[in-house]
Amino acid sequence: MTNRAFYENLDAIDPLSPLRSEFHLPPDTIYLDGNSLGIMPLAAPIRAKQVMLQEWGDDLIASWNKADWINLPMRLGNKIAPLIGAGQDETVVCDSTSLNLYKVLYSAIQIARKRHPARRKIVSEKTNFPTDLYIAQSLCAQFDMSLELVDGEAIDSIINDDLAVLLLTHVNYRSGAIYDMAQITSQAHAHNALVIWDLCHSAGSIPVDLCGCQADFAVGCTYKFLNGGPGSPAFVWVHPQHVDQITQPLTGWMGHATPFAFETDYQPAAGIRSYLCGTPSILAMSVLESSLDVFLKAQGYGGMPAIYKKAQTLTSLFIQLAEKECAGFGLSLVSPRDPEKRASQVSLSHPEGAYAIIQALIAQGVVGDYREPGVLRFGFTPLYLRYTDVWDAVMQLKSVLQGEAWRSDTFSAKQTVT
Ligand SMILES: Cc1ncc(COP(=O)(O)O)c(C=O)c1O
Repeated sequence: MTNRAFYENLDAIDPLSPLRSEFHLPPDTIYLDGNSLGIMPLAAPIRAKQVMLQEWGDDLIASWNKADWINLPMRLGNKIAPLIGAGQDETVVCDSTSLNLYKVLYSAIQIARKRHPARRKIVSEKTNFPTDLYIAQSLCAQFDMSLELVDGEAIDSIINDDLAVLLLTHVNYRSGAIYDMAQITSQAHAHNALVIWDLCHSAGSIPVDLCGCQADFAVGCTYKFLNGGPGSPAFVWVHPQHVDQITQPLTGWMGHATPFAFETDYQPAAGIRSYLCGTPSILAMSVLESSLDVFLKAQGYGGMPAIYKKAQTLTSLFIQLAEKECAGFGLSLVSPRDPEKRASQVSLSHPEGAYAIIQALIAQGVVGDYREPGVLRFGFTPLYLRYTDVWDAVMQLKSVLQGEAWRSDTFSAKQTVT
């Protein structure tokens, strides 16, 4: 692993390498930020043009039936299902992760109250993504519940007979650490508590088995490892045993049993369709479909297990090479060292210059991002990254550190989005 030829050899035998040609790759860029916004598939603008000029432009309102726009949320849910271990017709694409989390946490609270009216505790983790915590705070206030935030390592110790709902993000956004979904879910179920999994950093990144783990609820976004485009709609999954027990709180017409009967009273659709609220965003969903079709193609190359295996190798090589080449410059590893405990991301910290180092690196064509406090994040998307990208990225990182380019004032002024 000490010279570029080693990485070139790995690229030459990489079974996933043909999938790189599915993406629009910006020139002179090594893109290590697919954990924030995935690269655009080449099929996406073609599909967008078709939807705009033909389906919207020429066919207009007829396209709800003719192009089957009306069933896009369920069709896309079924394309995401194999990536998250869900059965058919159990997942629907709609709204944002934040909104879908609101729906499922509301449902989980109602089920928990039916089971154990005295239980008041929702638990999450201190470094969970803030939107999850904000949504939980809102619902706690409405339903007189309390939100307890614990350290990641302490989750085991809070699973007891006081727990109503456990709300966790499967892969931590800051460190890339993975929770053991099967073990935590079964431990929570042993105490008759419910578990919600946020899959934002898992879907399309690591194999997930919601049904096998008997999870209760899951939500996730599609703009990161699923490459659905900026702000592309999210997904929601509810275990079939819960889905018709509770009416989710955002009772819009698209979740009605018969939306085109225009009835006065709300009657939820059966199954996951009831988690829809308003009119689906057809342009965004159509573009997302072309991204999900790349994952269908990837099944012919080993699917999610092969994708995750390559991610583990890419991230392990990045860690080893960065620790060797950039030793003595103040970087330390934030992500788990064990590849089985790490998703497709490597996070490093730096005591004084994390933000500026990322900015200086971006100026040299290696795109990562920054997260508070002091974390440099690098996402590794096996569908379009090469092993030589690992070598080249580390060499650029070394040159930024050695030459102290990051100390220039141009790199320290924080922009709105980091
Ligand atoms: C774990 C997690 N949950 C939720 C979100 C954001 O949700 P939304 O798409 O509603 O903005 C993110 C965004 O990065 C995330 O990392």
